[in-house]
Amino acid sequence: MDSGPRALQLIDRARRALDWGPIKYRGDYPIARGNLPLIGHLADVHFELPAFLARSRAELGDVFWISLGRRVWILYVCGAQSLQALQMGVFSNTHLQRQKGIVLIAGKSLLTQDGDNHRRMRNAMHATFLPRGLNSAKVGARVAVALEELTRRWATQGHAYVLRDTRDTALSVIFELFGIARADVPTFRSRYEDLILSNLGIDLDFPGAPIRRARSARVWIDRSFSSLVSGARARPQQDTLLDSLAQPAADGSLNDEELIDNLRLVILAGHETIASIMAWITLRVAADGALWDALCAEVGDAPIPTTIEEAKRFPLAEAVFRETVRMHPPFSFTTRMALQDTVLGNHSIRARTAVGVDLYGAGRDAAVFPRPESFDPTRWLGRTTPPTVSELAQFGGGPHFCLGYHLAWLEAVEHIVALVRSMRAAKKRPALKGALPTPRFLSTEHPSGSTLVQFS
Ligand code: HEM
Repeated sequence: MDSGPRALQLIDRARRALDWGPIKYRGDYPIARGNLPLIGHLADVHFELPAFLARSRAELGDVFWISLGRRVWILYVCGAQSLQALQMGVFSNTHLQRQKGIVLIAGKSLLTQDGDNHRRMRNAMHATFLPRGLNSAKVGARVAVALEELTRRWATQGHAYVLRDTRDTALSVIFELFGIARADVPTFRSRYEDLILSNLGIDLDFPGAPIRRARSARVWIDRSFSSLVSGARARPQQDTLLDSLAQPAADGSLNDEELIDNLRLVILAGHETIASIMAWITLRVAADGALWDALCAEVGDAPIPTTIEEAKRFPLAEAVFRETVRMHPPFSFTTRMALQDTVLGNHSIRARTAVGVDLYGAGRDAAVFPRPESFDPTRWLGRTTPPTVSELAQFGGGPHFCLGYHLAWLEAVEHIVALVRSMRAAKKRPALKGALPTPRFLSTEHPSGSTLVQFS
């Protein structure tokens, strides 16, 4: 059973008992209500982010502090105005180097760097993740095999706990794209599950403690990646994404340590996000029979696309991907630190403040997306120009814009086409029992793992 509602009741009770009376301040700005000992606002953010933001905004205005536990404070700036921070050189990502949970996963990867160092790494990596790089490593074809297998299994079973399955598939896919042998995937998967425990915010160290398991997983993963990297450096041919990353790049190659740190990051970023999006896509099309029929008409007898060029031949499927990311952004917010005193929107921000950039709110900005609460893929159809910076905000922006944007786009469209093909072959269609599930928001926005879709 989903433990969410019970946890929410407990949080509410704790909040009422501990946090009443006048609003507290940190410097110039108020602290959102509900700041609990040790965990801060983590439970509010995880279980009910939209209601928490709406409540805080109504009481405190557009800017307020939230605590993510572990003494991590973020000055949350609501709505589209916060996106400006992504484009301003005065805001940096280097504060992430001080957050223990993130350092264990992302190390000195491009996520935690800025300026010349970030540029050098990004230049060394970005071609691999552009459509041409994905084509050279035959990414689309490998993804197609995995998604065909998944959706055929769903058709045979007649039901699926979608998130559990999309997580498994997305993780196997990303491991395979980086040259990890199928037989080794279960061990890598369980080590990654341990590594992610570092995100829990529990620093107490004792035998079996989350942080100890995360550290030992990191040692194991790094040792394994180190031998994968040596193998890739020695191979002249480029069969996988890792082979491509391991080749000397014109503008500054990655040394082994940097390559391993980036590999660890990309494998995490490249499966949690897309697994959630594929799960939400499945739920959205299962909840809307007319949308399903329209997708069936678009797909017809076409094969699963294996390149971005081919994926563009399925505009409705692409629109469903974009609308799902808008309404269910895997990352509800991202953060930047002000390097000096500055102004964001109309708000003064002091040097060394970590600002929360509201990707969730930006996707619901009525000035960019009329009727923002309505799931309407048709808003993306008939365009003659690429999506704007505001329309892509759920992928971040500026120098740290998502490296895996094209990969996510390709995988999502492949998922929709594979789903339609497998269900039609079995003369079935997806159906959701009851309403769409309430999302959970950490570490990425996702439906509950126990959400069931029927295929009949
Ligand atoms: C729908 C799926 C995805 C969404 C919505 C998404 C979203 C994001 C966001 C919001 C950021 C932070 C940007 C910022 O702070 O400005 C980011 C960064 C990143 N993403 Fe994605 N992501 C997705 C899929 C992927 C995939 C499949 C990969 C695999 C390659 C990936 C790799 C990365 C990396 C490496 C970064 C760090 C880039 C940097 O710091 O320069 N993402 N993504």
